[in-house]
Amino acid sequence: MDGKSVRNPVLEVLAGQSATTPPVWMMRQAGRYLPEYRELRAKAGSFLDLCFNPDMAAEVTLQPIRRFGFNAAILFSDILVIPHALGQTVRFAVGEGPQLAPLGDEAAIDRLPVNVDQAILAPVYETVRRVRTALDPSVALLGFCGAPWTVATYMIAGHGTPDQAPARLFAYRHPAAFGRLIDRLVDNSIVYLHRQIEAGADAVQLFDTWAGVLPPEEFVRWCIEPAARIVEGLRRLVPDVKVIGFPRGAGAMLGDYIDRVAVNAVSVDWMADRSMIRSRIQPKVAVQGNLDPLVLLAGGEALDRAVDRILAEFGSGRFIFNLGHGILPETPIAHVERMLARVRKG
Ligand code: CP3
Repeated sequence: MDGKSVRNPVLEVLAGQSATTPPVWMMRQAGRYLPEYRELRAKAGSFLDLCFNPDMAAEVTLQPIRRFGFNAAILFSDILVIPHALGQTVRFAVGEGPQLAPLGDEAAIDRLPVNVDQAILAPVYETVRRVRTALDPSVALLGFCGAPWTVATYMIAGHGTPDQAPARLFAYRHPAAFGRLIDRLVDNSIVYLHRQIEAGADAVQLFDTWAGVLPPEEFVRWCIEPAARIVEGLRRLVPDVKVIGFPRGAGAMLGDYIDRVAVNAVSVDWMADRSMIRSRIQPKVAVQGNLDPLVLLAGGEALDRAVDRILAEFGSGRFIFNLGHGILPETPIAHVERMLARVRKG
């Protein structure tokens, strides 16, 4: 059979088509809620060792596809491999989340190299190649990177915080230096995503997990403008590249985001106003989302109702079913199965 005639539902939606049954995948679908992940994770050494081991990272990427038959696989890596490849110390302490050596002042930003060390990232591209070879052509392979604002929040604070106050404060006090950090991340993200696409990624997602803590003017400056530049830069290299933006917590700014960032889809969090998105966003770009990860953890009828509401709101337009953020490690596998059966029942 001609490979090109194989349907790939996620790519069809990203190209603007609506599906009768929406394609589905989950953010953080490879991870600790899966026993097969925990088993391999225990053998891998550090979390970064796992990210930079193409054999293991490819296996972990494929685990949720085998178990659940999701319509997309997402490269197993982390957004913080970019700070690591810029020479910043990055550690993942068990149960604590990431720990970086914080960039304390303007001089620390100006000491960063212009370009990431591509030798460090080479195993990530090798993982992409291996996954694309192993994956059925009907399943999309998504590459990704962190959006500059979100990556910068970790680089400045050295860890996650409830509202990323250290980076917000730094950006108010030293806007020019912070802008140079963002510029560096924009340039390196374009190269990084381009190489993932060259290695076989079918589309890429830009994770701006901390977009929602910014006031409107800063949202434009630190979330929208850098994302717009990344998409423009990537399209100069790969004109028809498919991009999903995830400006988590964008709220009323989502319209501005899609008007100015040339994404093919936006991934929306569970707090988002669905009727506004259906009337003002979905006619322009595909929508991805937005089940509350906590209702997936809860399961039962609450889960069924939440799935049905999302399908009723978004199901008739261009839509990819997903969570509003990553799956929680405590989530029972049976709940994921129940969600999938309900999304695909039609
Ligand atoms: O989605 C996937 O399955 C692909 C892999 C992926 C990971 N991180 C693996 C991971 C992706 C796409 C990410 C993105 C990421 N990483 C984001 C953006 C999206 C989001 O979830 O907000 C952010 C902010 C990070 C930074 C990061 N990495 C944090 C805050 C943590 C700790 C929180 C946690 O869940 O432990 C990580 C670690 C991490 N990244 C784990 C996984 C599977 C858990 C570490 C482990 O297994 O030991």
